[in-house]
Amino acid sequence: METILLEKKDRLALVTINRPKALNALNDQVFSELESCFREVAADEEVAAVVVTGSGEKAFVAGADIKELATLEPLAARRLAERGQRVFNLIENCPKPVIAAVNGFALGGGCELAMACHMRVASEKARFGLPEVGLGLIPGYAGTQRLPRLVGKGIAMELVLTGEMISAARAHEIGLVNHVVAPEALHEKAHAIAAAIQSKGPLAVRHAMEAVNRGFEMSREDGERFEAALFGLLAGTEDTKEGLAAFIEKRKPEFKGR
Ligand code: CAA
Repeated sequence: METILLEKKDRLALVTINRPKALNALNDQVFSELESCFREVAADEEVAAVVVTGSGEKAFVAGADIKELATLEPLAARRLAERGQRVFNLIENCPKPVIAAVNGFALGGGCELAMACHMRVASEKARFGLPEVGLGLIPGYAGTQRLPRLVGKGIAMELVLTGEMISAARAHEIGLVNHVVAPEALHEKAHAIAAAIQSKGPLAVRHAMEAVNRGFEMSREDGERFEAALFGLLAGTEDTKEGLAAFIEKRKPEFKGR
């Protein structure tokens, strides 16, 4: 892979979008490689969590590649949006927690990529926005769908219609990011969240993610039914027995992921 760097260490996969000269803009090659990369980390039993970031000082990802967009006919543009949505759904549905470490500009497709991750940690230097209307476009990688779900319809509408770029502090205020930290503390913070998750029961983490992700798209009643079914499933696992026994015996649990 050229446009994606994948490093694995201590059960953590670090995925870096690597086109710094184009501010890590998402072109055809980035999407192909991002898709392969996420298929690999999802299947790798040694990987417990994933951090996604951008290469270089300036950008997380500055959006879809505008030079590529400029050449597209309507049908091809529709296909491009559908493919971007599919790859970002693959990230959202990754069975391992995915944390975006947003180091700089997260605009258009870059903001949509950050939103497809399960959590977002931002550097104080990060900037967020969906500037597509300024290009005569709308967000195409599910930004119009994920942003209102994250921050509410009114604020999402304002950001989508004005194309305004917002600071990391404002993104935190509206609930778009979980934490804002100094640039030099960004990876440490993302890794600390990943480490906290890694110390918990892996099956419980996986089922909790599924309950939140699936439940978000269901009625409250169906979501609760789904939660109860997963709760019951977990109760039959060795990990749940170990977690409960360890509490009672006042010791640390040793989870095996089964
Ligand atoms: N696509 C392709 N190339 C891009 C790019 C993009 N989205 N963003 C930046 N670049 C390129 C620039 O063309 C420039 O390349 P050259 O040196 O070859 O000219 C290089 O990256 C550096 O960019 P700038 O000189 O513009 O850097 P800057 O510091 O002056 O500005 C910026 C930074 C504000 C992020 C500005 O680059 C910018 O506005 N980028 C575009 C942001 C945008 O509109 N994103 C939405 C894209 S559309 C989309 O994403 C659709 C969708 O949802 C499917």
